Amino acid sequence: MNLKGRNFLKLLDFSSEEIRYLLDLSKDFKEKKKNHVKHEYLKGKNIVLLFEKTSTRTRCAFEVASHDLGMGVTYLEPGSSQMGKKESIEDTAKVLGRMYDGIEYRGFAQSNVEILAKNAGVPVWNGLTTEFHPTQMLADLMTIEENFGYLKGLNLVFCGDGHNNVANSLMVACAKMGLNFTLAAPESLRPDADLVAICENIAEGNSAKVTFTDDIMEATKNADVIYTDVWVSMGEADEVWQERIELLQKFQVNSKVFANANPNAIFLHCLPSFHNLDTTIGKDIYQKFGLKEMEVTDEVFKSSKSKVFDEAENRMHTIKAVMYATLGENNE
Ligand code: CP
Ligand code: NVA
Repeated sequence: MNLKGRNFLKLLDFSSEEIRYLLDLSKDFKEKKKNHVKHEYLKGKNIVLLFEKTSTRTRCAFEVASHDLGMGVTYLEPGSSQMGKKESIEDTAKVLGRMYDGIEYRGFAQSNVEILAKNAGVPVWNGLTTEFHPTQMLADLMTIEENFGYLKGLNLVFCGDGHNNVANSLMVACAKMGLNFTLAAPESLRPDADLVAICENIAEGNSAKVTFTDDIMEATKNADVIYTDVWVSMGEADEVWQERIELLQKFQVNSKVFANANPNAIFLHCLPSFHNLDTTIGKDIYQKFGLKEMEVTDEVFKSSKSKVFDEAENRMHTIKAVMYATLGENNE
């Protein structure tokens, strides 16, 4: 398998075999890390992290993975570069591509990361756009596989805002790897019809199904993985909260929903999550709307079914695999 020089912009660009390769590589890197086996395979290279939105996991995963691989890292925080205001994305890509061996981008439109990739001349990795969050998917698949030992045929149910980056990407990831994807969401919050058609086609080729329903109990019957995400994503207006709360309250992941799933079902969430009042936004929503928990209850979040912190850790191992595979010294 040779992914050297490739961008990592969305999972749709990768075959099931290539995704399998990246997952195996991630597992290998996780083993090395746990056993304190040095793996500075990319010594002498430098990468830049271009963030237009905030982050904990993605930024830290890229930084730690880069250090472990022996690379230098520059972090450009939201609003701190010339990009957008004084310099086009195309020009920024051309400049950064002259200095760095790889570029991570987190921001708004998917078209932005595509323009970066077209003009940089070095691999570009998507660290989240409005439409997709592909590095998250590798960590999710890795975590699912760690718990079940396989992926094909498992039932993954996403509850909540079905048209955000994570829901879109999960639908693609499941289709590619042969998991059945069910979305429990209101009809107005489903993924784009074109993307659905593409995923249904891929899923069929992998003997999997894509299903939509607005009945969370129906959706979670026989679920192996129950996944949710915030009801309002980064970049959306604060005014959206009221409507989302009204639409999504009945899609909250709680113990009743979990009791309905398979006995060994696990809970995943890309994080950050509103499961208590320990955040500024959490408190603000409580004051305005009286909700103490949102997309998932504190009980489910903290239960033994919840694998969210394994999932968060796996961001680092999988991002390391993506960087190594696309920049790798000895896989030419
Ligand atoms: N899941 C995820 O992407 O987290 P951050 O926003 O903290 O990077
Ligand atoms: N849908 C969320 C994911 C955060 C990792 C957002 O875009 O804010």
